[in-house]
Amino acid sequence: MHTSIISLLVTLILAGLTGNGSALADDMTTPLQHAVNAPRGELKSPYADFVSVADEGHKIYLSHDCGSCHGGGGGGGMAAPLTNEVWIYGDDDDTLFRVIVLGTGSLSPGDAFRQQGFVRKGSENVVGPMPPFGEIFNSDDEVWKIIAWIRSKHCERGTGPC
Ligand code: HEC
Repeated sequence: MHTSIISLLVTLILAGLTGNGSALADDMTTPLQHAVNAPRGELKSPYADFVSVADEGHKIYLSHDCGSCHGGGGGGGMAAPLTNEVWIYGDDDDTLFRVIVLGTGSLSPGDAFRQQGFVRKGSENVVGPMPPFGEIFNSDDEVWKIIAWIRSKHCERGTGPC
């Protein structure tokens, strides 16, 4: 009995350390690692039905103080609105995930965002870099829920699909 518990613990610890593709190791991959390692275009939201998690996404958005720059409702403030028709780098899941996780311009660590090939396509009245949030989120899920909320605002305002 005793020995089997110890050997179970050892197995779990080793699985965690070696990261040999186990579920445990996958869960430990941070949003930042995903954004750095995944090829462009491969990051995809699991929430096709974005409206269902929008409220939760809005709470996460507010809890990380995104609203201090973008406004509590996403309508803009010190930084660009998230709910108008302009998408600075694009509106696909992969791009939005990377904007949020890697940050942009001079605030993106090691210039990671530009190195991945992103350039501004749209321009807002206020232009500046966005800070990286990749090490602040516990999981990709939080980022996808925020993106779901942003999409739900576009749906409400008629600037994006529902
Ligand atoms: C210190 C101010 C600041 C904070 C805090 C901030 N952002 Fe930003 N954000 C910016 C700026 C500035 C840009 C424009 C970046 C650029 O043009 O390179 C931006 C761009 C964006 C965009 C792209 C918008 C578009 O129209 O294409 C999204 C999405 C976004 N931010 C989400 C977030 C989320 C989610 C959070 C919180 C986790 C957050 N931001 C926190 C300043 C901020």
